[in-house]
Amino acid sequence: MAAMEIKKNITWVGALDWDRRLFDELIPLPDGTSYNAYLVRGGDKIALIDTVDPGKTEELLENLQETGVTRIDYIVSQHAEQDHSGSIGAILEIFPQAVVLTNEKCKAMLMDLLLLPENKFQTVSDGQTLDLGGKTLEFIFAPWVHWPETMLTYLREDKILFSCDFLGAHLAQSRPLLTDEKRTYQAAKRYFAEIMMPFRPQIRKHLERLSGLALDLIAPSHGVVYPRPVFILDAYRDWVSERTENLVLIPFVSMHGSTREMVEHLSGALIRQNITVIPCNMIHTDIGELAKELVDASTVVMASPTVLGGVHPAIAHTAFLANALRPKLKFASIIGSYGWGGRMVENLLASLGNLKVELLDPVLAKGCPSEKDFQALDALAAAIAAKHRGIGVLP
Ligand code: FEO
Repeated sequence: MAAMEIKKNITWVGALDWDRRLFDELIPLPDGTSYNAYLVRGGDKIALIDTVDPGKTEELLENLQETGVTRIDYIVSQHAEQDHSGSIGAILEIFPQAVVLTNEKCKAMLMDLLLLPENKFQTVSDGQTLDLGGKTLEFIFAPWVHWPETMLTYLREDKILFSCDFLGAHLAQSRPLLTDEKRTYQAAKRYFAEIMMPFRPQIRKHLERLSGLALDLIAPSHGVVYPRPVFILDAYRDWVSERTENLVLIPFVSMHGSTREMVEHLSGALIRQNITVIPCNMIHTDIGELAKELVDASTVVMASPTVLGGVHPAIAHTAFLANALRPKLKFASIIGSYGWGGRMVENLLASLGNLKVELLDPVLAKGCPSEKDFQALDALAAAIAAKHRGIGVLP
């Protein structure tokens, strides 16, 4: 890897994880990821903003060596999760005079997670500043993006916001500055959906606070540095708004074809109503893709066969995730087939309690769907179209 200056005396010293394919043993990473750390050299003091995942400590150390830095005064820890804090111990071993600068909540978490001794810390309050000598860091608390202790750091003279996980993307590319807005938009949207979407109300408030800052660069802890901050800020403003699209998402599983037949019939009926449909076979669909589509969907229709007396486990998992991600869905329904009975609908309804949706009548077929079931699916498509017209997403 290579250390790279993003502005005079501000150097990216992070690590690229090109082939990491899973985060938190849950989130697929089709584009790998990066752990961004930044060295800020003031006239008097030197600060390292965040570190890297413990598996990449060596790369951070090599990059620091490449910068020629011989002293670090402050390690600013914006967030206690180990992909950013996990190399603090190694930095302290090499630069024992360094102080870990963070807030009280993050300090307590770092002591629990990394077993760092209390005497290594100095805490800051919201809005507090630190002058490094011509480079003033201002600390901005931003709880729930996505942990309660997260803070951001604003470098006043250079108008750079170090935004931690907030506004980031799981994306590895060879240079830290954004080069491809289309690719980055998709990666950032997916990341927002997987990590930030449950916290939309808090994020709205943070965006409002940030709107008062003059910004030349936004430098998150994953993905790329934004030389046009409005690009990512506008995207977030849209994603956290209540705006949805004329889109129905149909996560489905089919064991012997009956549920698939229902999904295909419903999809056709919705398309004839001028509604965009995305059916996702949850045996193959990566959950990050599903999460990304949930950002804009107005309606979700869960489609499952009945297995072992209830919902198919892959759809149970999908429902659990959709419920945890709290998308801005307005309507939901359930379709599927059964052999002799079961609690598929009850199982699903019990898992979707966080969603503030209006439930449209489920359609269940006994065995193969019959003409009566197809008519019920046509009626469901018409009901969805009427609801979409009602919220103004379908003319
Ligand atoms: Fe990238 Fe919440 O850590």
